[in-house]
Order: sequence, then structure tokens, then C-alpha cells
Amino acid sequence: MNEWICYEPVFACDRYQPCLLPYGPFAGLRDFVYDLVRWQRPKKLVELGCHYGCSSFAFLQAVRDGNLDTGYWGIDTWRGDLFTRNDYRDDVYGEFCRVLSLCYDHMDTHLLRCSFQEAAPGFADESIDLLHIDGSHMYEDVRRDFDMWLPKMKKDGVILLHDVADYLFYEGEHLGSWRFFSELCCRFPHVRRLPVSCGLGLVFLSEEMCRGFDEQAPLEIYIKEESRRYEDAKARLREMSFRMRDLEEVLRMRSGTGNG
Ligand SMILES: C[S@@+](CC[C@H](N)C(=O)[O-])C[C@H]1O[C@@H](n2cnc3c(N)ncnc32)[C@H](O)[C@@H]1O
Repeated sequence: MNEWICYEPVFACDRYQPCLLPYGPFAGLRDFVYDLVRWQRPKKLVELGCHYGCSSFAFLQAVRDGNLDTGYWGIDTWRGDLFTRNDYRDDVYGEFCRVLSLCYDHMDTHLLRCSFQEAAPGFADESIDLLHIDGSHMYEDVRRDFDMWLPKMKKDGVILLHDVADYLFYEGEHLGSWRFFSELCCRFPHVRRLPVSCGLGLVFLSEEMCRGFDEQAPLEIYIKEESRRYEDAKARLREMSFRMRDLEEVLRMRSGTGNG
């Protein structure tokens, strides 16, 4: 079993997409999945739902820094779903490819621009080590994605599901991904939940892998880091709101409408 190390990664992609990638809904999980990949050393890593690449590039950064022998398959229509379709007024796919070629060129990466259902027959049973499911978060969709891809997993594989936090709601009800993941906790014996960045569920298909994870992965560090980021963001917002008030005051004075 490899040793779990908490690295301090620098995500090269942030230099080229500084507004979206460090602040995406997955951003607080990047350090964790980076360490997970370097610990697990997957041969085949498949991602359902790439969008701008917040999670994808965190995986690839780990592969690159660790010199790992990992093939990455990213699958997405890059056309959006119920939750992301407004983003697709921009060229999300073009942006993904631009950052990929700038930072993670010459790596073993494969982009499949199609539906998860269309891509599935191209993957052999028991061939995937690490799968990240992050497509539509409607209950029926997450269930279909999980059940369709489960047979593709190796016996000691790990499945990640994003957006499984219990504070996520859609139209007044818990998000489907939360509900589905809660059911998985009864279906599978080795399931963990990391309450960071909208919640990450982990399904370990082997008991040994899960035991190694429990013994080594210091989850409290990732949780503490998330609350530090949250406090930083609040402080920055406060600072910006004070600056705006100062600026408004200066503009009022200049236009002669100030009280003084
Ligand atoms: C939540 S975003 C992925 C976020 C990404 N993992 C990140 O960290 O930023 C979901 C993506 O899944 C894609 N998607 C949803 N359902 C899909 C399906 N059935 N087949 C292919 N792509 C799908 C959407 O186009 C969208 O880009």
C-alpha cells in the first residue's frame, strides 16, 4: 500500500484560467483528489462530466507531478445539462482544450465529446481504477450513470461522486445526487463522505483499499482547509464592500452631491 502524503500542489491551469478554476464548486476538493491520485496511482482514470476542468486538471496535475503511468479519459457532451446549460453560452469545450494543451500536453489524455451512455460500451468490464461521476445531479441521472459504469470498475476500484452534501437543494427538495448517495451507503459496505465543496462521496469497492484510506487519509486537514478558504473569501468580500463604499463616497464628493 502506498503512503498517503498531503502535498501542497500548484495547479498550473490556474495561470491560464484564474477566474473559473480556483473558484469552481469543486475547487475545495482539488487538494484532496490530488493526494488521492498520488496515493492510489490509478492506471485508468475516467471522469463523467468535465465542464471547464476544475476537477479534471486537479487529477492531471497529480498525474504529471507524480510521473504516474495513468491514462485519463474525460467524457462530456460539453453542451451542458439542467444545472450548467447557462455556462454553455460560452465556448466551454474550447476553453477546456486550450488549458489542457497549455498545461497537460503530451500526457495520456483522451477526450470523448459524447454522452456517458454512448461512451460506456467502449470501456471493457473491470478496467477502471478511479471513476469520478459529476454529470447531471438529478436522481435518475446519477443512478443511471453509477449503475451503467459500475461493471467497468476493477475489483479494487474507487468511485467518486460530487455534490452529495445534505445542504444542496433543487426545487425545495434534496439534490438527487445526495439522495442517490445516501442509498449507496446501504448498498455498499465501504462508503465515505468528505463534507467539503458541496460534498464528495467515495465508494471503495475493496475492503482493503478502504482500510488503507481510513488508516492514512487525514480528512480533518481537508475539512479545516475548506473552512480557512471560506473565512478568507468572507474577509475578501468584506474588504471589497468597504472599498466600494469608499469609492461611492469619492464619486459623490466629486459630483458635488456629498454632504461635506
Ligand atoms: C457539474 S458539471 C462537471 C463539473 C466538473 N467536474 C468540474 O469540476 O468543474 C457537469 C457536466 O456534465 C455534462 N453532462 C451531464 N450529463 C451528461 C451526459 N449524460 N453525458 C455527457 N455529459 C453530460 C455537462 O455537459 C456538464 O459539463
